[in-house]
Amino acid sequence: MIPSAPTVTISAPRGSIACVGLGMTLGSHLTPLARSHIEQADVVFAALSDGIVERWLERMHPDVRSLQPYYAQGKSRLKTYREWVAVMMAEVRAGKRVCAVFYGHPGVFAWSPHKVIEAARAEGFPAHMEPGISAEDCLYADLGIDPGRFGCQHFEASQLLFYERRIDPTAYLVLWQVGVVGNPSIARPDQNVAYRELLVEVLARDYPLDHELLIYRCATLPIEQPRVRRMTLRELTGADIPAEETVVLPPARALQRNAQLTARLAALDAEQVA
Ligand SMILES: C[S@@+](CC[C@H](N)C(=O)[O-])C[C@H]1O[C@@H](n2cnc3c(N)ncnc32)[C@H](O)[C@@H]1O
Repeated sequence: MIPSAPTVTISAPRGSIACVGLGMTLGSHLTPLARSHIEQADVVFAALSDGIVERWLERMHPDVRSLQPYYAQGKSRLKTYREWVAVMMAEVRAGKRVCAVFYGHPGVFAWSPHKVIEAARAEGFPAHMEPGISAEDCLYADLGIDPGRFGCQHFEASQLLFYERRIDPTAYLVLWQVGVVGNPSIARPDQNVAYRELLVEVLARDYPLDHELLIYRCATLPIEQPRVRRMTLRELTGADIPAEETVVLPPARALQRNAQLTARLAALDAEQVA
């Protein structure tokens, strides 16, 4: 009897997604793991800080698709980000190994990387986030700030306008996206001043108007130096703050010792010695 041929099932390739960070400075921040995700992908999507960085990424992979064209004047940024998730998921569902590359850290002040990973996992696809060096990491190095010294709060600037938030002025306060504060779309320049006035009004509840703050931009190209401008809170209203700058408010008040709790700690120590 002739044995029947074994049945071979060829399963369709299974899609997956890896969201990786390219770091802030072209060339020097890319980790070996992020590079390997890029090189092994079938398709690479890119949301990067500028065109030069995009050209650099194109040298690592033949199919790099920019996500920048989805932005448009007056269009809600959330709509753009939903579209990014949709185009990436379409390739995952088509069985592709997708790598989505974001500048900085893909999970820091970035909606779509978290969302696409959530969506992929909900549909049973493998999904992974690979960390990168964020603007926050560069800020600590360039401005000489240790977040552990006084504590450090990070807020998306618009949240201070849309929600009731409690600021602790004895800690550092880092404000992201001040350049587009209050505006859910790509802002018209004339709108910024009115929104910024509201932000200053909110901050003035906890900081004097002559409190000095730092406007920070880390280097995105190896030939650049970090840019740090100092100004008072009052001056923030009319200042030109590009979308890629971050605002840092150093503490305005000294830490207050908690006399009650330190007394209780001393009592506990005394009990243990007795
Ligand atoms: C959408 S978030 C992206 C952050 C990014 N994922 C990261 O890891 O740093 C954009 C905000 O990041 C900050 N940012 C972006 N580029 C920067 C730069 N070159 N220097 C300082 N802050 C920057 C600004 O606050 C900007 O509004």
